[in-house]
Amino acid sequence: MIKIQGLHKKFGKNQVLSGVDLEIDKGGIFAVLGPNGSGKTTLIKSILGMVVPNKGSISVLETNIKNSWKYRQEIDYLPQIANFPGNLRVKELIRMIKDLRREQGNEERLIDLFGMQPFLDKKLSTLSGGTKQKVNILLTFMFDGPLMILDEPTTGLDPASLIRLKELILEGKQKGKTILITSHIMRFVEEMADEIIYLLEGKIYFKGSIEELKNKTGQTDFEHAIADISINSADV
Ligand SMILES: Nc1ncnc2c1ncn2[C@@H]1O[C@H](COP(=O)(O)OP(=O)(O)O)[C@@H](O)[C@H]1O
Ligand SMILES: [Mg+2]
Repeated sequence: MIKIQGLHKKFGKNQVLSGVDLEIDKGGIFAVLGPNGSGKTTLIKSILGMVVPNKGSISVLETNIKNSWKYRQEIDYLPQIANFPGNLRVKELIRMIKDLRREQGNEERLIDLFGMQPFLDKKLSTLSGGTKQKVNILLTFMFDGPLMILDEPTTGLDPASLIRLKELILEGKQKGKTILITSHIMRFVEEMADEIIYLLEGKIYFKGSIEELKNKTGQTDFEHAIADISINSADV
């Protein structure tokens, strides 16, 4: 599904990715983890072609993404920070995104699921952070591509919405989708992820199941296993 070789990315003098090699097979939930600023969003944006690497190659769905854009139509992407135009109403934004994608979207079900009916006529600038995130989720999940990329999808959600989100993600997995997620909420990751991809110092430090990670770190619980990596790496 995704194949990355020797990916390097620097912003000015800041070397963020320094030789990322990563293969992600089709189907399943993959959590991209790593300390703040370790390059998770940069990696995701590289896959989406929104960040241009200094070196390395990326192919998505068997397509080398360099000079290619069509593959992006297969990706449903939830950005970490959604900069919605504030003066648009929610329903206008939904319409606009559907027009851009030129696809049928199944937004009706999602509007019900997240109780968004009362907000459809509201301007985006007037919404709370959590409600904006629900709009963000709605715009991502209303399409049905084979690859989903969710950058911190749980941000600001109330408990009921978090449950809905988890159900939607699992439903996608059952349909055979490949789902990449970043999250700081370790309980969420532990519950959802089939595989962990841990970014550290510009490289993939670990890729494997939660069980394998626990074995590698000698920790019996996941949160400690993750903390163990950051603490030990801080020593060197
Ligand atoms: N567009 C950009 N311009 C300059 N620096 C950037 C840009 N995007 C990210 N960075 C820097 O790259 C590093 C990694 O950022 P990011 O990929 O957002 O990390 P993460 O998502 O893991 O928290 C940070 O030091 C950040 O400041
Ligand atoms: Mg990020």
